[in-house]
Amino acid sequence: MEHYIIKGGKPLVGEVVIGGAKNAALGILAASIMTAGSCLIENVPNVRDINVLLQAMEGVGASIDRRSDNEVVISGKNLYMTDDLIVDNEYIRKIRASYYLIGALLGRFHKAKVVLPGGCDIGSRPIDQHIKGFRALGATVKIEHGMIVAEAEELIGSHIYLDVVSVGATINIMLAASMAKGNTIIENAAKEPHIVDVANFLNSMGARIRGAGTDVIRIKGVESFHDAEYSIIPDQIEAGTFMMAAAATRGNVLVKNVIPKHLEAISAKLMEIGAQVEESDDAVRVIATRRLKHTQIKTLPYPGFPTDMQPQMAVTLALSKGTSTITESIFENRFRYVDELARMGANIKMVDGNTAIIYGVEKYTGAKVEAPDLRAGAALVIAGLAAEGYTSVTEIGYILRGYERFDEKIRGLGGMIEKVDSEKESNKFIYRTGTLNA
Ligand code: EPZ
Repeated sequence: MEHYIIKGGKPLVGEVVIGGAKNAALGILAASIMTAGSCLIENVPNVRDINVLLQAMEGVGASIDRRSDNEVVISGKNLYMTDDLIVDNEYIRKIRASYYLIGALLGRFHKAKVVLPGGCDIGSRPIDQHIKGFRALGATVKIEHGMIVAEAEELIGSHIYLDVVSVGATINIMLAASMAKGNTIIENAAKEPHIVDVANFLNSMGARIRGAGTDVIRIKGVESFHDAEYSIIPDQIEAGTFMMAAAATRGNVLVKNVIPKHLEAISAKLMEIGAQVEESDDAVRVIATRRLKHTQIKTLPYPGFPTDMQPQMAVTLALSKGTSTITESIFENRFRYVDELARMGANIKMVDGNTAIIYGVEKYTGAKVEAPDLRAGAALVIAGLAAEGYTSVTEIGYILRGYERFDEKIRGLGGMIEKVDSEKESNKFIYRTGTLNA
């Protein structure tokens, strides 16, 4: 079975280059089929969720030309205009971003039939705000046999107030509204960097969106879109993950190709606990020379501390001096790594289901652990890198959904990790590395 085997205890040192933002890419790729022309998209991360979405887009007739690992040309010219706009296959059911195809298809063709989204099991993850938005634009939306069926005679701009700040609903409504008749206002919109990136891409295809990145987005609908070329922003969470890996292993890592502004919440917390963070135009360096300190964290929508960085932060804090608390306020099921981390020696107590009290320990010891979801999986890898001895992380399919060449990038920083397929390969790694630095 595919898993990572890690020999920990060595500080990560060196430079790592961050790829394109997965969660921006998912919105942008879905949006690209809204034109009958073609779109060249650069800096696309080559990760499983992206590949599943591209496959589903091919399934409705889009042509996908993968120029290289990180560059793709998409043409929506031959998208089926009949009843065949059905998005369903066994893989797409497992990802979340399939829902962007509803907004994209509804905008361009006024109809869409897309299987209900899956994604990491981090909470109940309703889509009522997406549906509310589509309905406000004049669509009828039904859930039938596990599919979301949305249709409209015509889409008409509207004033939509989101009851909860939702990344997915903000992007999805932006997609559909950018081809509706007249003006749409989205209030209480999410402000994440990937919202701005999707809006910039839509504008580069001819959309007229203003205010993305603030909580009021204004959209003037247009009739059609044209060809575009676009490069996706760097992945804020991949960058944050490597920053945290540097801190937890007491290393010194230059994280390159980032937008430091997007990392402010993470940098601020790292500095607060005693790490050194040096920002330059498009890189941040994180240095930790001694044991870090405790702090309090509450996850919030951007620009607050991201829920997608919560497990990685917990792994760092569980090795820091004193007692820290982390409160998760976005998803109710994002602490499933706590039991796994306990196997490595962490001392974490849950209260009320959404707050973790973390009593810092001096060290982790390697153990067999299972990744419960994407970010928690990455966090367990960081724990393994910081731990004494060997750690194996199973269920790494989750990690591969969102991190490109994760093990290779860690090895580039001197980390000892390998992706293996069997116990035999794992033992070979142990045999080989056991003689090194033993
Ligand atoms: C996106 O999920 C990301 N996924 C998640 O990334 C990320 O954790 C999350 O935003 C928050 O930043 C993608 O972009 C594909 P939300 P999404 O809608 O869009 C509630 C990762 O590891 N809500 O912003 O599903 C919801 O339950 C992941 O890369 C409703 O109540 O998140 C949650 O409490 C996993 N009704 C909150 O809003 C709705 O209609 C925020 O969810 C929609 C959401």
